Amino acid sequence: MAAPDVADLSLAPAGRARIAWADQQMPVLASIRERFERERPLAGITVAACLHVTAETANLMRTLVAGGAEAALCAANPLSTQDEVAAALAGDLGVEVHAARGEDADAYVRHVQALVARGPQITLDDGADLLIVIHASRPDLLEGMLGGTEETTTGLLRLRALERDGRLACPVIAVNEAFTERQFNDRHGTGQSALDGILRATNLLLAGRTLVVLGYGWTGKGIAERARGAGASVVVCEVDPLRALEARMQGYEVMPALEAAERGDIFITVTGGRDVLRREHLERMKDGAVLANAGHFDIEISLQDLRALATGGMQEVRPLVEQYDLGGRRLNLLAQGRVVNLAAAEGHPAAVMDMSFANQALAAEELVRHGADLAPGVHPVPDRIDREIAGLKLASLDVHIDALTAAQEQYLSSWGAPG
Ligand SMILES: NC(=O)c1ccc[n+]([C@@H]2O[C@H](COP(=O)([O-])OP(=O)(O)OC[C@H]3O[C@@H](n4cnc5c(N)ncnc54)[C@H](O)[C@@H]3O)[C@@H](O)[C@H]2O)c1
Repeated sequence: MAAPDVADLSLAPAGRARIAWADQQMPVLASIRERFERERPLAGITVAACLHVTAETANLMRTLVAGGAEAALCAANPLSTQDEVAAALAGDLGVEVHAARGEDADAYVRHVQALVARGPQITLDDGADLLIVIHASRPDLLEGMLGGTEETTTGLLRLRALERDGRLACPVIAVNEAFTERQFNDRHGTGQSALDGILRATNLLLAGRTLVVLGYGWTGKGIAERARGAGASVVVCEVDPLRALEARMQGYEVMPALEAAERGDIFITVTGGRDVLRREHLERMKDGAVLANAGHFDIEISLQDLRALATGGMQEVRPLVEQYDLGGRRLNLLAQGRVVNLAAAEGHPAAVMDMSFANQALAAEELVRHGADLAPGVHPVPDRIDREIAGLKLASLDVHIDALTAAQEQYLSSWGAPG
C-alpha cells in the first residue's frame, strides 16, 4: 500500500467517532459487511473508489475491506472531504486514502492518478473521473479490469457518451438508477434535506404557508410530500402533462409559475433546467417570499434578473439568506441559489447513503462474480440486487411481508383461464 496523502493523521479519533455515528444509521450496509467478513467475496481484488470522502463512504470502504478487497479512496469533490474521516480510514481502517479538504486542482489530479497507479480491477465512481482517466491515460489497464460502478447522473451521462463513441471498454453498473437508490436518494433524501436546509437557514414555520415546488420529478415529489406533511399548502408547477396530472391527482394545486408567483411564500426549484424563476415571476412575488433551489446547478433562479430588479440593493440578513430589495418588496434568496440541501444542511442523511452504498458493495461483488461475462457498456443494477437490498432494509425496520403461495405463483405465470 502506498503512503496516504491526507491533511492530518492525528484527526483519526474524531473521524472514528463520526464513522461510528453514521454506521448506526446504516444497517443494510452493516449486514452486508457481516456477510462479506464470512464469505470474503472480494479477496485479493484491488478496488479504487473516487467518492465523497465522508463518514458514510468510510462505512462502504470498511465493507469492501471486510470482503477482502485492497481498497483505495480519493475524493470526487475536494470540498466534501471530511479530513478526520480520511485520517481514520488511512490510520487503522486499512484503506489507502488520497484526499484533503480544499485540495487544489493539481492535488486532485495527483490523487486520482495515485489510484490509477494501483491498477484497480474495480472502480467505484461518483462523476466518472476515475474510469475516464483510466480510459484516457492508462488504457493498458482496461484489459485487467472487471468493471466499474457509477453513483451519479452526471457520471452516467459521461460514460454513456463514451459508450456511444464505441470507446467504453469495460462494464459499468449504473448504481444511480437502482430503484433502492432513487427512492431513497432523490425522493426521501432530497425531500427531507431540502426542507431541512430551508428551515435551518430561515427558521420559518411551514404550517400555514404556501410552498411552490417547480418540477415534479423524483426530487420534487419528495419535497412536495414532506412539505404537505409539515402543514404547508403545496402548489406544483410543471411543463410535463403526465407529471402535472400526477401532482393534481395527489391532491396538490397545479398552475403555471406566473400564477404561483403571486401565491407562494416559499419557492423551491428542482427541475434540472435554467431560469425557471426569472424577471416576470420575481416581479409578481409577495414581500418576504423565500427562494431556494434544490436542482444540481445554481441556474434555476435567475440571479441576473434578481440583481437587476433589486433597486434597493441586497443585504445578508442571516447566514445564507440574502435579502434583495425590489423597491420596497423584499425577496429572500437562500444559499445564493445553490443546491440548498447541501449548502444550508448536511445533504443526504446516512440512512439514505446506506441504500446507495449497499448497491455499491453488491455491485462490486457482482463484478467479481459475473464481470467477465458482461459486455463493455453501462448495465443496470440486477433486479435481484435491488430486491435483496429492499429485503435487508425491511428486515432492519423489523417489517415483514407475505410471500406468494405456490398456487398464486402458478396462476400469475400462466396464460390459461382461471380453473
Ligand atoms: N439536491 C439534491 O440532493 C439532488 C438530488 C437528486 C437530484 N437533484 C437534482 O434535481 C434536479 C431534478 O432532478 P430529478 O431527478 O427530480 O429530475 P426529473 O427529470 O425526474 O424531474 C424534473 C422535472 O422538472 C420538470 N421541469 C423541467 N423544466 C421545468 C420548468 N421550467 N418548470 C417546471 N417544471 C419543469 C420536468 O418536466 C420534470 O418533471 C436535477 O438537477 C438533479 O440533478 C438534486
